[in-house]
Amino acid sequence: MRIAVLTGAGISAESGLATFRASDGLWENHRIEDVATVEAFERDPALVHDFYNMRRIKAAEAQPNAAHRALAELARAHDLTLITQNVDDLHERGGSADVIHMHGAVASALCAACGHRWQAPMVMRPEDRCPECNAQATRPDIVWFGEMPYHMERIWQALEEAELFAAIGTSGNVYPAAGFAQHAARFGVECIELNLEESANSRDFSQRILGPASRTVPEWVNGLLR
Ligand code: APR
Repeated sequence: MRIAVLTGAGISAESGLATFRASDGLWENHRIEDVATVEAFERDPALVHDFYNMRRIKAAEAQPNAAHRALAELARAHDLTLITQNVDDLHERGGSADVIHMHGAVASALCAACGHRWQAPMVMRPEDRCPECNAQATRPDIVWFGEMPYHMERIWQALEEAELFAAIGTSGNVYPAAGFAQHAARFGVECIELNLEESANSRDFSQRILGPASRTVPEWVNGLLR
């Protein structure tokens, strides 16, 4: 079966990584929208680097949980396109290959001058230079608010061609990901939501399974493997 899965911060919550909305969308009293934008980075690059340095360290310390591992198992039996909004690498470390990181990755650095990408050091600093062009224009390889998510062409196609679309651990507040269920449903795709609580776009799904991902995802995957 062709399956498209979208994951959000909720799938990594039980690995110890805080979700965005659980912290009221705040980080040390800054609104996430005030650190995760190009404008914020231009205004105060050290602050924005600090935010992602902390997330990079936390992500490296975290371990994948049963939900990440179950999706790797699902890919062994079905034609799975795994799309994540998460910038951690817990899917990869949980055994998944070819994960589509639509919002980028904390482990990656990007040169805003020449577009070169490389493995980010654990701590990035405003004075870092691009190893390719030497510009002092290095930034976390993260899609900020107002920027275009990565790999959208491939994602829309996977959503349209799937038989089943599942959204796991995402609050349904941030577009375009929040519109994936509505888009897939228009193409006759069955849409299912697995989340701790009903998401903001819950009505776009024909089925929902509420509960912690480390329990609901392995159960749901086992049902598909039977
Ligand atoms: N199991 C399943 N779901 C959970 C769990 C859990 N253990 N813990 C929390 N959740 C759910 C919450 O109920 C919430 O609906 O996960 C969702 C997490 O929502 P958000 O924090 O909004 O995360 P996400 O939807 O991934 O955010 C989208 O917003 O800030 C931007 O770019 C950032 O990728 C991020 C995007």
